[in-house]
Amino acid sequence: MTNSRRRYHITTFGCQMNKADSERMAGILEDMGFEYSEDPNKANLILYNTCTIRDSAEQKVYSYLGRQAKRKHEEPDLTLIVAGCVAQQEGEILLRRVPELDLVMGPQHANRLQDLLEQVFDGNQIVATEPIQIVEDITKPRRDSSVSAWVNVIYGCNERCTYCVVPNVRGVEQSRTPEVIRAEMEELGRQGYKEITLLGQNIDAYGRDLPGSTESGRHQNTLTDLLYYVHDVPGIERIRFATSHPRYFTERLIRACAELPKVCEHFHIPFQSGDNDILKAMSRGYTQEKYRRIIDKIREYMPDASISADAIVGFPGETEAQFEQTLKMLEDIGFDMLNTAAYSPRPGTPAALWDNQLSEEVKSDRLQRINHLVSTTAAQASQRYYGRLEEVLVEDQNPKDPTQVMGRTRGNRLTFFTGDIKQLKGKLVNVKITEVRAFSLTGERIPVPC
Ligand code: SAH
Ligand code: SF4
Ligand code: F3S
Repeated sequence: MTNSRRRYHITTFGCQMNKADSERMAGILEDMGFEYSEDPNKANLILYNTCTIRDSAEQKVYSYLGRQAKRKHEEPDLTLIVAGCVAQQEGEILLRRVPELDLVMGPQHANRLQDLLEQVFDGNQIVATEPIQIVEDITKPRRDSSVSAWVNVIYGCNERCTYCVVPNVRGVEQSRTPEVIRAEMEELGRQGYKEITLLGQNIDAYGRDLPGSTESGRHQNTLTDLLYYVHDVPGIERIRFATSHPRYFTERLIRACAELPKVCEHFHIPFQSGDNDILKAMSRGYTQEKYRRIIDKIREYMPDASISADAIVGFPGETEAQFEQTLKMLEDIGFDMLNTAAYSPRPGTPAALWDNQLSEEVKSDRLQRINHLVSTTAAQASQRYYGRLEEVLVEDQNPKDPTQVMGRTRGNRLTFFTGDIKQLKGKLVNVKITEVRAFSLTGERIPVPC
């Protein structure tokens, strides 16, 4: 292969964890001399970083893959890779289903891409799905944004929610050490990044697997300790973290968020269902009362905190009354944002085998009803921003209106206002909110008094 012909394309499905993995894999490919191609048909290495959280996500991958597999018959030089969670779930089966594939690699192997590709270029077809100790990231990721960056703090998940494939595909929890997390943040600060989102499937479970973490009966390596440890990294103005599990969300963590000025007052804490029997069947390990107590506590310390969550409707055996408990939770809490999904039975999960599955009609009816309520609730929650002064970190131009820039408030609301991106990119700007919508705001820039 000549250098000019080494062009790669990555399509990423799924969650922020996958997006962060893709950025690292793109960094590895660029280090190897590949150039990015937006158009997959102009690339001669295509990587699909896949998601299998629901059946629809998995099926999408097969349709994308089918097109490129055909192309390979005319262009035998094309390298085809499936990475991520479908790769981990299907392994060898994927190779049998799509024999044109060169490499099938699970999420734990993302940082090993170069090593695996060298084996492919030697003429091998590779499946890398065995559980491993994740190697520390040695390449510079090719990050999509130059303002806001993700930093992984914990990989994997040790929970066993009865509907979920994540523990099967992401493996057991592996926390990075506070030192390497801080070092990555310091480097990002030097490069001019302003905002960091710390990432983990259950980020508040951070540190449980690190040596010495239960010394003298008290965790020394919790997420709370980590926040104190990284808070003063120079150049970084905002710190966020996601996703939090209600089981591990402590008052100590809430206090730290209130105390540390760079930590934004936005919390993503999925509740999944508002009914205790369903929560039990899901093996979530908390009650709806405990969830409400956490939100009350957050609001006691930070009255204006913005709260988002995930919820599943149509879980096996869910009655109409139990579904209404979820709607009630949504109304009572007044979420700023809620990601909703109809339950999808997943291979290798206990709930998929139960005989009390609901019909597609019931599930989609409930999904529609909850989504309707989500927009109403979010629109109500947005009202509180009207007329207020909000701090916005400018990330980009508004793709729909080049006279405007866009960024996020501390509460994570997307906000648009008139301005020049060349001057404002990466700046924290005070914006007076003049229009509110369910999921975004518009405002005017207010010059900072000298
Ligand atoms: N670790 C996070 C969530 C990770 S998965 C947590 O515990 O909250 C992201 C979201 O996908 C979940 O919050 C859940 O709402 C949804 N999800 C997971 N498995 C699902 C399934 N089988 N069907 C429908 N939605 C699902
Ligand atoms: Fe899945 Fe539950 Fe783990 Fe979240 S905590 S990733 S829902 S098993
Ligand atoms: Fe999907 Fe894997 Fe994330 S299944 S939601 S990409 S952990």
